[in-house]
Amino acid sequence: MARDKTKTSKVTEPTTGPEHVAIIMDGNGRWAQMRGRPRLFGHHAGAKRVREIVEACPDVGVKYLTIFAFSTENWKRTQTEVAGLMKLFRRYIQREARDLLARGVRVRFIGDRVRLDGKLVNLMDELELLTAGNDKVHLTIALNYGGQDEIARATKRLAYDVAQGRLAPKDINEETLPKYLDTCLLPDPDLVIRTSGEARISNFLLWQSAYAEYEFIDTLWPDFTAEVFGRVLAGFKARDRRFGAVTV
Ligand code: FPP
Repeated sequence: MARDKTKTSKVTEPTTGPEHVAIIMDGNGRWAQMRGRPRLFGHHAGAKRVREIVEACPDVGVKYLTIFAFSTENWKRTQTEVAGLMKLFRRYIQREARDLLARGVRVRFIGDRVRLDGKLVNLMDELELLTAGNDKVHLTIALNYGGQDEIARATKRLAYDVAQGRLAPKDINEETLPKYLDTCLLPDPDLVIRTSGEARISNFLLWQSAYAEYEFIDTLWPDFTAEVFGRVLAGFKARDRRFGAVTV
């Protein structure tokens, strides 16, 4: 949510729900292993939860949902898992496109597309185009995304604009730099949720989460139902957000 960082008086927002929720969907592998199944089985179960959580967004007042599907570090996994995930992303887009369009979901992808398979990138482009007129829920899928990589790519483009004389160094600040990020069209997340009990942010939305609230929950992603989502959102509403100011 765009906010005035110069405010010094009452800026708490205790009663409203988060407009933008970002989720680090962790625990698919452990969920599968606990059932004696291969890790990809957990990723498939995780994809079903993605559908459920996207569908729940209008009911719980979440306008923007950003999910971490594949990080710049995830290439270090086995070739079988990486290939299986890429196939899952392709199938997800092919299977869900029509439903996402009908539900008023606008889909965007963030991350570096250069290393992704051309067929997948075409499907991503098509889904973005297909849903571009929607405004009910904004679903952003982070694919080959890393916060540090994003900032480095943004800085490269910014430096190019400076070299071309389109941007003066004196004008580089916290308002102009985010315009070069992959998320330039999105508000900052109000709440970042990580499932599976790990308390790390793993290179996710590093710049954008400066004032986000964090919720680390033990539930593994394939068990993250719309009901669990609702409980986490209720907890957020009880928080006192000050954005560095004091409550008066
Ligand atoms: C982390 O769990 C999860 C991932 C790296 C993949 C996330 C992908 C999905 C939820 C699949 C569906 C997504 C879309 C957009 C269709 P992990 O494998 O690291 O779990 P672990 O920590 O238990 O090993």
